[in-house]
Amino acid sequence: MNRRYRKTIIAGNWKMNNTLSQTKAFAEEIKPIMPKGKWCNVVLCVPATNIQAAVRLFKDCHIAIGAETCHELDHGAYTGEITAAMIKEAGAKYVIIGHSERRQYYNETDFTVNKKVHAAIEAGLVPIICVGESLEQRELGVTMELIAYQVKCALANVAPEKVRHIVIAYEPLWAIGTGKTATAEQAGEVCQAIRTVIRKQYGAHVARSVTIQYGGSMNAKNAQELLAQPDVDGGLIGGAALKPADFVKIIEAANQE
Ligand code: 13P
Repeated sequence: MNRRYRKTIIAGNWKMNNTLSQTKAFAEEIKPIMPKGKWCNVVLCVPATNIQAAVRLFKDCHIAIGAETCHELDHGAYTGEITAAMIKEAGAKYVIIGHSERRQYYNETDFTVNKKVHAAIEAGLVPIICVGESLEQRELGVTMELIAYQVKCALANVAPEKVRHIVIAYEPLWAIGTGKTATAEQAGEVCQAIRTVIRKQYGAHVARSVTIQYGGSMNAKNAQELLAQPDVDGGLIGGAALKPADFVKIIEAANQE
């Protein structure tokens, strides 16, 4: 973390979990245990059906709300899809884009990720752009090239003053939902490489403002070590964000000096 230049953001990704009533129960449980200090920003990315209620429910404990994906276009005959403007009007501030599960199960490509990033920015949302390599790609030794490619594609034609405010989440596929976390060194190394890609393209001023998260089996036990890396500015948390007590422990780790 480096709080001098950029925000530390702890974000939960609920994926396809929690109904409206479960969302209410989560809010009740987390309210009394939310840390009072405000070193880091806290976000919950929730299923679209819960966004509006979540904005209201989590307002008191300063948790901002995000969506888990959006469509790249601003309207049209795309049954089941929602636009970035719809998400914005529902009260969300963030939207996850290009999560590996979207890439794997819904054919999202680096090309559509770029279009979605533009759509999110246009609507006034902060995109949390996910990048990450598979185990095979890591073993082949192409992690850095792949991540650089994903970052460059995602940010193609995005203006420098907009890039400053985006969030990138490094999520190695082999660490998602597996209980297998990247070591702090591995996470730090890739997050640093992501910042270097941004620096080369947009300059040092932009690069140092971008929040780069780590995601993949981050939990109460390993959070502090991961966040101690200078280029790891937060976490994108799946499983551990479904339990208020665990999520709070990660927020506390980010609040450490
Ligand atoms: P887990 O924390 O469950 O591994 O999920 C990470 C993730 O995919 C967050 O987007």
